Amino acid sequence: MISKDFMKNLSWSRKDMISTEDLNPAEIDKIFAMADVFKASLKTDKTKLPYLKGKVVVNLFFEPSTRTRTAFEMAAHKLSADVISVASNISSSVKGETLKDTARNIEALMADMIIVRHSSSGAAKYLAERVKIPVINAGDGAHAHPTQALLDAFTMREKFKGDFKGRKITILGDILFSRVARSNIYLLKTLGAEVTLAGPSTLVPREFEKLGVRVCYNLEEAVADADAVMLLRIQHERQSATHFPSISEYANVFGLNLRRESLLKKDAFIMHPGPINRGVELDTPLADSPRSVILNQVTNGVAVRMAVMNLCMHHK
Ligand code: CP
Repeated sequence: MISKDFMKNLSWSRKDMISTEDLNPAEIDKIFAMADVFKASLKTDKTKLPYLKGKVVVNLFFEPSTRTRTAFEMAAHKLSADVISVASNISSSVKGETLKDTARNIEALMADMIIVRHSSSGAAKYLAERVKIPVINAGDGAHAHPTQALLDAFTMREKFKGDFKGRKITILGDILFSRVARSNIYLLKTLGAEVTLAGPSTLVPREFEKLGVRVCYNLEEAVADADAVMLLRIQHERQSATHFPSISEYANVFGLNLRRESLLKKDAFIMHPGPINRGVELDTPLADSPRSVILNQVTNGVAVRMAVMNLCMHHK
Protein backbone atom coordinates (compact mmCIF):
# COMPACT_ATOMS: atom_id res chain seq x y z
CA MET A 1 0.00 0.00 0.00
CA ILE A 2 1.42 3.38 -0.97
CA SER A 3 0.97 5.94 1.80
CA LYS A 4 -0.51 9.42 1.32
CA ASP A 5 2.86 10.91 2.32
CA PHE A 6 4.77 8.90 -0.30
CA MET A 7 5.38 11.88 -2.59
CA LYS A 8 5.56 14.44 0.23
CA ASN A 9 8.54 12.65 1.76
CA LEU A 10 10.34 12.44 -1.54
CA SER A 11 13.51 14.49 -1.63
CA TRP A 12 15.77 14.12 -4.65
CA SER A 13 18.10 16.66 -6.20
CA ARG A 14 19.25 14.99 -9.43
CA LYS A 15 17.51 16.10 -12.61
CA ASP A 16 19.20 13.37 -14.64
CA MET A 17 20.43 9.79 -14.25
CA ILE A 18 23.60 9.58 -16.30
CA SER A 19 25.96 7.27 -14.42
CA THR A 20 26.28 5.28 -11.20
CA GLU A 21 29.75 6.69 -10.57
CA ASP A 22 28.69 9.49 -8.25
CA LEU A 23 25.56 7.94 -6.72
CA ASN A 24 25.90 7.91 -2.94
CA PRO A 25 24.58 5.17 -0.60
CA ALA A 26 21.63 7.31 0.55
CA GLU A 27 20.54 7.90 -3.04
CA ILE A 28 20.85 4.21 -3.89
CA ASP A 29 18.79 3.35 -0.78
CA LYS A 30 16.14 5.83 -1.86
CA ILE A 31 15.90 4.30 -5.34
CA PHE A 32 15.69 0.77 -3.92
CA ALA A 33 13.12 1.71 -1.28
CA MET A 34 10.92 3.29 -3.92
CA ALA A 35 11.44 0.33 -6.29
CA ASP A 36 10.33 -1.99 -3.46
CA VAL A 37 7.05 -0.10 -3.22
CA PHE A 38 6.56 -0.07 -6.98
CA LYS A 39 7.43 -3.75 -7.33
CA ALA A 40 4.78 -4.64 -4.75
CA SER A 41 2.25 -2.54 -6.65
CA LEU A 42 3.18 -4.16 -9.99
CA LYS A 43 2.68 -7.60 -8.43
CA THR A 44 -0.60 -6.96 -6.68
CA ASP A 45 -2.68 -4.86 -9.03
CA LYS A 46 -2.95 -3.74 -12.62
CA THR A 47 -4.15 -0.21 -11.85
CA LYS A 48 -1.94 2.71 -12.74
CA LEU A 49 -0.24 4.92 -10.18
CA PRO A 50 -0.80 8.67 -10.58
CA TYR A 51 2.72 10.04 -10.03
CA LEU A 52 3.53 11.00 -13.65
CA LYS A 53 -0.03 11.83 -14.72
CA GLY A 54 -0.01 14.51 -17.41
CA LYS A 55 3.70 14.01 -18.18
CA VAL A 56 5.07 13.02 -21.57
CA VAL A 57 8.14 10.76 -21.73
CA VAL A 58 10.07 10.45 -25.01
CA ASN A 59 12.15 7.34 -25.67
CA LEU A 60 15.00 8.26 -28.00
CA PHE A 61 16.84 5.07 -28.91
CA PHE A 62 19.64 5.24 -31.47
CA GLU A 63 20.66 1.63 -30.80
CA PRO A 64 18.57 -1.56 -30.71
CA SER A 65 16.92 -2.57 -27.45
CA THR A 66 14.33 -5.03 -26.25
CA ARG A 67 14.48 -4.99 -22.44
CA THR A 68 15.45 -1.41 -21.64
CA ARG A 69 13.09 0.31 -24.01
CA THR A 70 10.13 -1.89 -23.15
CA ALA A 71 10.80 -1.60 -19.42
CA PHE A 72 10.96 2.20 -19.62
CA GLU A 73 7.70 2.22 -21.59
CA MET A 74 5.99 -0.09 -19.11
CA ALA A 75 7.33 1.94 -16.19
CA ALA A 76 6.01 5.17 -17.70
CA HIS A 77 2.58 3.62 -18.40
CA LYS A 78 2.33 2.28 -14.86
CA LEU A 79 3.07 5.79 -13.56
CA SER A 80 0.32 7.22 -15.83
CA ALA A 81 2.68 9.08 -18.17
CA ASP A 82 2.18 9.20 -21.93
CA VAL A 83 5.09 7.65 -23.84
CA ILE A 84 6.33 8.38 -27.32
CA SER A 85 9.07 6.20 -28.77
CA VAL A 86 11.13 7.73 -31.56
CA ALA A 87 12.67 5.15 -33.85
CA SER A 88 16.05 6.58 -34.82
CA ASN A 89 15.98 5.06 -38.33
CA ILE A 90 12.89 7.12 -39.23
CA SER A 91 13.77 10.22 -37.21
CA SER A 92 15.32 13.31 -38.80
CA SER A 93 18.73 12.25 -37.48
CA VAL A 94 19.05 10.29 -40.75
CA LYS A 95 18.72 13.63 -42.57
CA GLY A 96 21.64 15.03 -40.62
CA GLU A 97 19.94 16.62 -37.63
CA THR A 98 22.26 16.77 -34.66
CA LEU A 99 21.55 15.00 -31.38
CA LYS A 100 21.37 18.37 -29.63
CA ASP A 101 18.81 19.70 -32.14
CA THR A 102 16.76 16.52 -31.89
CA ALA A 103 16.61 16.78 -28.10
CA ARG A 104 15.89 20.52 -28.07
CA ASN A 105 13.06 20.02 -30.56
CA ILE A 106 11.61 17.28 -28.37
CA GLU A 107 11.81 19.68 -25.43
CA ALA A 108 10.12 22.39 -27.55
CA LEU A 109 7.31 19.90 -28.21
CA MET A 110 6.72 20.10 -24.43
CA ALA A 111 8.03 16.65 -23.53
CA ASP A 112 8.78 16.26 -19.81
CA MET A 113 11.56 13.66 -19.90
CA ILE A 114 13.95 12.08 -22.41
CA ILE A 115 15.22 8.51 -22.17
CA VAL A 116 18.22 8.20 -24.48
CA ARG A 117 20.32 5.32 -25.80
CA HIS A 118 23.22 6.17 -28.07
CA SER A 119 26.36 4.53 -29.40
CA SER A 120 28.55 7.47 -28.32
CA SER A 121 29.95 7.54 -24.80
CA GLY A 122 28.95 10.82 -23.22
CA ALA A 123 25.84 11.36 -25.37
CA ALA A 124 23.43 11.32 -22.39
CA LYS A 125 25.46 13.82 -20.36
CA TYR A 126 25.84 16.03 -23.42
CA LEU A 127 22.06 16.14 -23.81
CA ALA A 128 21.36 16.57 -20.10
CA GLU A 129 23.49 19.72 -20.14
CA ARG A 130 21.55 21.13 -23.10
CA VAL A 131 17.91 20.61 -22.10
CA LYS A 132 16.04 21.64 -18.97
CA ILE A 133 13.98 18.44 -18.73
CA PRO A 134 15.33 15.29 -17.05
CA VAL A 135 17.45 12.95 -19.17
CA ILE A 136 17.85 9.28 -18.27
CA ASN A 137 20.76 7.40 -19.79
CA ALA A 138 19.56 4.10 -21.25
CA GLY A 139 23.10 3.21 -22.34
CA ASP A 140 25.76 5.39 -23.99
CA GLY A 141 28.51 3.60 -25.88
CA ALA A 142 30.84 1.72 -23.55
CA HIS A 143 30.38 4.39 -20.85
CA ALA A 144 27.36 3.71 -18.66
CA HIS A 145 24.01 1.97 -18.32
CA PRO A 146 22.95 3.16 -14.87
CA THR A 147 19.44 1.70 -14.71
CA GLN A 148 20.78 -1.72 -15.77
CA ALA A 149 23.29 -1.66 -12.90
CA LEU A 150 20.58 -0.47 -10.51
CA LEU A 151 18.25 -3.31 -11.48
CA ASP A 152 21.15 -5.77 -11.25
CA ALA A 153 22.02 -4.59 -7.74
CA PHE A 154 18.33 -4.52 -6.77
CA THR A 155 18.11 -8.20 -7.84
CA MET A 156 21.25 -9.07 -5.86
CA ARG A 157 19.92 -7.18 -2.85
CA GLU A 158 16.86 -9.45 -2.84
CA LYS A 159 19.13 -12.51 -2.85
CA PHE A 160 21.52 -11.05 -0.24
CA LYS A 161 18.69 -9.91 2.04
CA GLY A 162 19.88 -6.33 1.69
CA ASP A 163 23.51 -6.75 2.79
CA PHE A 164 26.28 -6.36 0.20
CA LYS A 165 29.18 -6.17 2.67
CA GLY A 166 31.80 -8.76 1.71
CA ARG A 167 29.65 -10.26 -1.04
CA LYS A 168 31.71 -11.43 -3.98
CA ILE A 169 30.50 -10.66 -7.48
CA THR A 170 32.31 -11.92 -10.58
CA ILE A 171 31.65 -10.21 -13.90
CA LEU A 172 32.82 -12.46 -16.70
CA GLY A 173 33.16 -11.60 -20.39
CA ASP A 174 33.71 -8.55 -22.53
CA ILE A 175 34.49 -5.96 -19.85
CA LEU A 176 36.42 -3.56 -22.07
CA PHE A 177 33.44 -2.61 -24.22
CA SER A 178 30.77 -3.00 -21.55
CA ARG A 179 28.82 -0.06 -20.14
CA VAL A 180 27.00 -2.59 -17.94
CA ALA A 181 30.29 -3.70 -16.35
CA ARG A 182 31.42 -0.13 -15.67
CA SER A 183 28.09 0.88 -14.13
CA ASN A 184 28.03 -2.27 -12.00
CA ILE A 185 31.60 -1.79 -10.78
CA TYR A 186 30.88 1.71 -9.44
CA LEU A 187 27.55 0.75 -7.90
CA LEU A 188 28.69 -2.52 -6.31
CA LYS A 189 31.81 -0.90 -4.84
CA THR A 190 29.67 1.85 -3.28
CA LEU A 191 27.42 -0.84 -1.80
CA GLY A 192 30.42 -2.64 -0.24
CA ALA A 193 30.68 -5.69 -2.49
CA GLU A 194 33.95 -7.20 -3.75
CA VAL A 195 34.12 -7.28 -7.54
CA THR A 196 36.19 -9.62 -9.73
CA LEU A 197 36.46 -9.03 -13.48
CA ALA A 198 37.33 -12.04 -15.62
CA GLY A 199 37.80 -12.93 -19.26
CA PRO A 200 40.57 -12.85 -21.87
CA SER A 201 43.30 -10.29 -21.10
CA THR A 202 42.47 -8.46 -24.34
CA LEU A 203 38.97 -7.75 -23.02
CA VAL A 204 39.85 -7.26 -19.33
CA PRO A 205 42.79 -4.86 -19.13
CA ARG A 206 44.73 -4.68 -15.84
CA GLU A 207 43.94 -0.93 -15.72
CA PHE A 208 40.55 -1.87 -14.27
CA GLU A 209 42.36 -2.69 -11.01
CA LYS A 210 42.59 1.07 -10.45
CA LEU A 211 38.83 0.98 -9.82
CA GLY A 212 39.42 -1.24 -6.79
CA VAL A 213 38.46 -4.55 -8.39
CA ARG A 214 40.28 -7.86 -8.84
CA VAL A 215 41.23 -8.83 -12.39
CA CYS A 216 41.49 -12.55 -13.12
CA TYR A 217 42.26 -14.45 -16.33
CA ASN A 218 41.42 -17.91 -15.05
CA LEU A 219 37.76 -18.90 -15.09
CA GLU A 220 38.03 -21.52 -12.32
CA GLU A 221 39.68 -19.03 -9.98
CA ALA A 222 37.31 -16.21 -10.92
CA VAL A 223 34.09 -18.07 -10.09
CA ALA A 224 35.24 -20.31 -7.21
CA ASP A 225 34.18 -18.06 -4.31
CA ALA A 226 31.64 -15.89 -6.13
CA ASP A 227 28.19 -15.33 -4.63
CA ALA A 228 26.98 -14.12 -8.01
CA VAL A 229 28.39 -14.56 -11.51
CA MET A 230 27.33 -12.02 -14.13
CA LEU A 231 27.96 -13.09 -17.71
CA LEU A 232 28.41 -10.51 -20.45
CA ARG A 233 28.16 -11.09 -24.17
CA ILE A 234 30.91 -10.19 -26.61
CA GLN A 235 29.97 -6.78 -28.01
CA HIS A 236 30.99 -7.23 -31.63
CA GLU A 237 29.28 -3.98 -32.56
CA ARG A 238 31.80 -1.97 -30.52
CA GLN A 239 34.94 -3.89 -31.54
CA SER A 240 37.02 -2.88 -34.53
CA ALA A 241 39.57 -5.66 -34.03
CA THR A 242 39.49 -9.31 -33.05
CA HIS A 243 40.20 -9.77 -29.35
CA PHE A 244 40.27 -13.59 -29.28
CA PRO A 245 40.82 -16.30 -31.89
CA SER A 246 37.19 -17.37 -32.45
CA ILE A 247 33.77 -17.58 -30.79
CA SER A 248 34.17 -21.32 -30.20
CA GLU A 249 37.59 -20.72 -28.64
CA TYR A 250 36.03 -18.12 -26.34
CA ALA A 251 33.21 -20.51 -25.37
CA ASN A 252 35.75 -23.27 -24.68
CA VAL A 253 37.86 -21.15 -22.36
CA PHE A 254 35.41 -18.70 -20.77
CA GLY A 255 31.90 -20.01 -21.45
CA LEU A 256 29.85 -21.06 -18.43
CA ASN A 257 28.26 -24.44 -19.04
CA LEU A 258 26.88 -27.42 -17.10
CA ARG A 259 30.32 -29.03 -16.97
CA ARG A 260 31.63 -25.97 -15.16
CA GLU A 261 28.65 -25.59 -12.82
CA SER A 262 30.52 -27.70 -10.24
CA LEU A 263 33.04 -24.83 -9.96
CA LEU A 264 30.34 -22.60 -8.45
CA LYS A 265 29.40 -22.34 -4.79
CA LYS A 266 26.19 -24.15 -3.88
CA ASP A 267 24.15 -20.95 -3.55
CA ALA A 268 25.86 -18.91 -6.25
CA PHE A 269 23.43 -17.41 -8.73
CA ILE A 270 23.83 -16.50 -12.38
CA MET A 271 23.01 -13.12 -13.93
CA HIS A 272 23.05 -11.69 -17.43
CA PRO A 273 21.85 -8.26 -18.61
CA GLY A 274 20.77 -9.76 -21.94
CA PRO A 275 20.71 -10.38 -24.76
CA ILE A 276 22.28 -13.80 -24.14
CA ASN A 277 24.38 -15.42 -26.83
CA ARG A 278 23.43 -18.96 -25.85
CA GLY A 279 26.25 -21.45 -26.23
CA VAL A 280 28.89 -18.70 -26.14
CA GLU A 281 29.16 -16.98 -22.74
CA LEU A 282 26.37 -19.09 -21.21
CA ASP A 283 24.87 -22.47 -22.11
CA THR A 284 21.10 -22.96 -22.23
CA PRO A 285 20.83 -25.51 -19.37
CA LEU A 286 22.43 -23.02 -16.98
CA ALA A 287 20.67 -19.95 -18.38
CA ASP A 288 17.34 -21.65 -17.71
CA SER A 289 18.33 -23.37 -14.46
CA PRO A 290 17.18 -22.55 -10.90
CA ARG A 291 20.52 -20.76 -10.42
CA SER A 292 19.55 -18.17 -13.01
CA VAL A 293 17.95 -14.89 -11.91
CA ILE A 294 18.07 -13.47 -15.42
CA LEU A 295 14.32 -13.04 -15.80
CA ASN A 296 14.06 -11.64 -12.26
CA GLN A 297 16.47 -8.94 -13.45
CA VAL A 298 14.15 -8.14 -16.34
CA THR A 299 11.07 -7.96 -14.08
CA ASN A 300 12.91 -5.78 -11.56
CA GLY A 301 13.88 -3.44 -14.39
CA VAL A 302 10.36 -2.03 -14.52
CA ALA A 303 10.16 -1.20 -10.79
CA VAL A 304 13.66 0.25 -10.69
CA ARG A 305 13.00 2.42 -13.76
CA MET A 306 9.71 3.60 -12.25
CA ALA A 307 11.68 4.73 -9.20
CA VAL A 308 14.36 6.51 -11.22
CA MET A 309 11.80 8.25 -13.47
CA ASN A 310 9.65 9.30 -10.54
CA LEU A 311 12.59 10.66 -8.55
CA CYS A 312 14.16 12.58 -11.45
CA MET A 313 10.81 13.97 -12.61
CA HIS A 314 10.17 15.34 -9.11
CA HIS A 315 13.72 16.56 -8.40
CA LYS A 316 13.99 19.69 -6.26
N1 CP B 1 20.26 -5.15 -21.03
C1 CP B 1 19.92 -4.40 -22.09
O1 CP B 1 20.31 -3.23 -22.18
O2 CP B 1 19.13 -5.03 -22.99
P1 CP B 1 18.51 -4.33 -24.29
O3 CP B 1 19.66 -4.02 -25.21
O4 CP B 1 17.57 -5.34 -24.89
O5 CP B 1 17.81 -3.09 -23.85
